[in-house]
Amino acid sequence: MALDSNATKPHDRLAQALADEMAAVNALIRDRMASEHAPRIPEVTAHLVEAGGKRLRPMLTLAAARLLGGAGDRAVKLAATVEFIHTATLLHDDVVDESTRRRGRPTANLLWDNKSSVLVGDYLFARSFQLMTECNSLAVMAVLANASAVIAEGEVLQLTAAQNLGTTEAVYLQVIRGKTAALFAAACEVGAMVAGGSAAQVAAMRAYGDALGIAFQMADDLLDYGGTSAIGKNIGDDFRERKLTLPVIRAVAAADATERAFWERVIEKGDQREGDLDEALRLMRRHGTLEATRAEANAWAETARAALAEMPKHPVQAMLADLAAYVVARLT
Ligand code: IPE
Ligand code: IPE
Ligand code: MG
Ligand code: MG
Repeated sequence: MALDSNATKPHDRLAQALADEMAAVNALIRDRMASEHAPRIPEVTAHLVEAGGKRLRPMLTLAAARLLGGAGDRAVKLAATVEFIHTATLLHDDVVDESTRRRGRPTANLLWDNKSSVLVGDYLFARSFQLMTECNSLAVMAVLANASAVIAEGEVLQLTAAQNLGTTEAVYLQVIRGKTAALFAAACEVGAMVAGGSAAQVAAMRAYGDALGIAFQMADDLLDYGGTSAIGKNIGDDFRERKLTLPVIRAVAAADATERAFWERVIEKGDQREGDLDEALRLMRRHGTLEATRAEANAWAETARAALAEMPKHPVQAMLADLAAYVVARLT
């Protein structure tokens, strides 16, 4: 493909700019995802890893390092670490969400079972710990260990907020900041750290990742109502799981008595019938909550871009700035 910066997506431009290191990351992932002792492990990991995925988080680690002059092998190791943590959370998340599609394929919990997904997810977490120790930095390990704890907290908080129509926007923000933005932030932060960034630069990259992750998850929550099968996951999962994502929280806040009764039935009681997802969509459109969520996501994308002002001027900096807008506009 020709290198046309106007025609290609920011995500593809970053992948091109970081192609050699990403190839090394992918080779390392392939090398470490196997196990000689338990054949179920390579079966499950190959199924998920070979399906691809956008590899956004490892790209963020590599990009942060590149912006600050590069960090060679350590950045590659940390990028693979971050993707392992992400993949582990996906295996667990699809069990918790009872999802049947991921990366355009049936989920591991569907093809094998929940037990395999949970245990192989644990294995990938453990592999991520092994990889991060190879970087010989307690400070880096502290960032990644903290992110792992915060992700789990976010998922558990979401579990207890689901089905609760009283869930506030503040709680929603806490959930997505934990389950998604924590890893985006850590991916950016450790990349800046191993490249020897100043405290201000490390903080700026962390702030970029945090805001980018929030924007990304808000867009993901929109896609769950308005997306197509191109996203590679089932749409409507959040409604079925009775999750209080931002478009729903706003629609509940604007509901009249009849609408409120609808939300109580489908979200609180879980009594969902044919046509209810369409009705939910109609109510969200009526109150403009999908557009409002997109506006909120765009505001976070703008916060992410602003954080980059601290970073050196560099083609990769411009790509990261464009990536912020792209994660909100994305369709996959
Ligand atoms: C999926 O993340 C989990 C969320 C935080 C929404 P991605 O959409 O980055 O997943 P892959 O790696 O590209 O499949
Ligand atoms: C993604 O949560 C966050 C983690 C995997 C930790 P979701 O449940 O919203 O993501 P998808 O839609 O299944 O990818
Ligand atoms: Mg899920
Ligand atoms: Mg989930």
